[in-house]
Amino acid sequence: MKFFLDTANIDEIKQGVGWGLVDGVTTNPSLVAKEGVDFHARIKEICVLVNGSVSAEVTATDYDGMIKEGHVLAKLHPNVTVKVPLIPDGIRACRTFSQEGIKVNVTLCFSSSQALLAAKAGATYISPFVGRLDDVSQDGIQLVKEIVQIYKNYNFTTQVLAASLRHPMHVVQSALAGAHVGTMPIGVLKMLFNHPLTDIGLKKFLADWEKTKEQIQKK
Ligand code: E4P
Repeated sequence: MKFFLDTANIDEIKQGVGWGLVDGVTTNPSLVAKEGVDFHARIKEICVLVNGSVSAEVTATDYDGMIKEGHVLAKLHPNVTVKVPLIPDGIRACRTFSQEGIKVNVTLCFSSSQALLAAKAGATYISPFVGRLDDVSQDGIQLVKEIVQIYKNYNFTTQVLAASLRHPMHVVQSALAGAHVGTMPIGVLKMLFNHPLTDIGLKKFLADWEKTKEQIQKK
């Protein structure tokens, strides 16, 4: 499973990249707005830091506008994946981009029927929003399972990018469901490390080692 960071924050990306755990980045207009920076410059900056897909979202909602914006974004850096919303014009734009060889992430997916449309339009990634479905008492992970199964049934090459992951179990359950990618905030990535028995075990090992007066690096 690839790990993407869901952020437009440079410090967070540097931290994740430093751990060697970041295979890509997803941004969205809300995440960019939080940063208060020049959008194009920030996307380029992220692309230089990350050796993988960097999703940058169009904000036009009509086909012609999406195509124009998508071309601008795709030209920023070869790592850019153009993100389009799952609406009819978005699916049409997805088909055009995919025919042009531009990678596309179809976002705001909340049903398997929508995911089928994205695959048929040649999307590189489909982004089911797990947490936002859970928020309205629907099973987000069940959606990931269904999409993975449907894509397998027809050998679709579109990758399932589990999005809106809010806690470690969302990541684990998406992995169990066979999602190709999970995109998560840095806080969720950090939480994946946590286990109290690791901390207790390490403390004990170090205390016992201290008693030996040994040193691994001999002076
Ligand atoms: C995905 O690409 C989205 O940016 C993101 O995962 C949305 O997450 P949220 O529902 O926590 O805002």
